[in-house]
Amino acid sequence: MLEIVTIPAEVLYQKAQPVNEINGSIAELADNMLDAMHAAQGIGLAGPQVGKPLRLFVVHIADDQPRLFVNPEIIGTSLETVKLEEGCLSIPGLYAEVVRPRAVEVQAYNRRGRPFTLQADGILSRVIQHEIDHLNGVLFLDHLPERKRERMLRRYDPAEYTQS
Ligand code: NI
Repeated sequence: MLEIVTIPAEVLYQKAQPVNEINGSIAELADNMLDAMHAAQGIGLAGPQVGKPLRLFVVHIADDQPRLFVNPEIIGTSLETVKLEEGCLSIPGLYAEVVRPRAVEVQAYNRRGRPFTLQADGILSRVIQHEIDHLNGVLFLDHLPERKRERMLRRYDPAEYTQS
């Protein structure tokens, strides 16, 4: 099982590299990421979160199918924004309301290397934006006002949430 890395692991703050070739090892990585994400009861997981600084992430929401996005780009966002609570498997136990665009249009490649575009709304839109942030070394806490972020991190003790 892939290990999910938590803050302050350096890989979480770095810009991830594009995937050059979508081959069997990328498909296997995606499957292993889905397994690790399911085990941790998450709904999204990005490459850097398993120590792989590659531009890919997986998402699996409720009744939807599991989805893989390779080299994703947001090509459109709604002007309307919404405030929703977010958490992150790399910052276990910490949650905060974050404001982001309500809907996005994303372009990416699937596990067979074929390009697709997707218009997403609701939770899916939110997870896609959160995961693409991970590929740019950005955490959901970075969207909070600085004072609030610092206050939350000061109180934060990851050991409290470490599963053994
Ligand atoms: Ni996250």
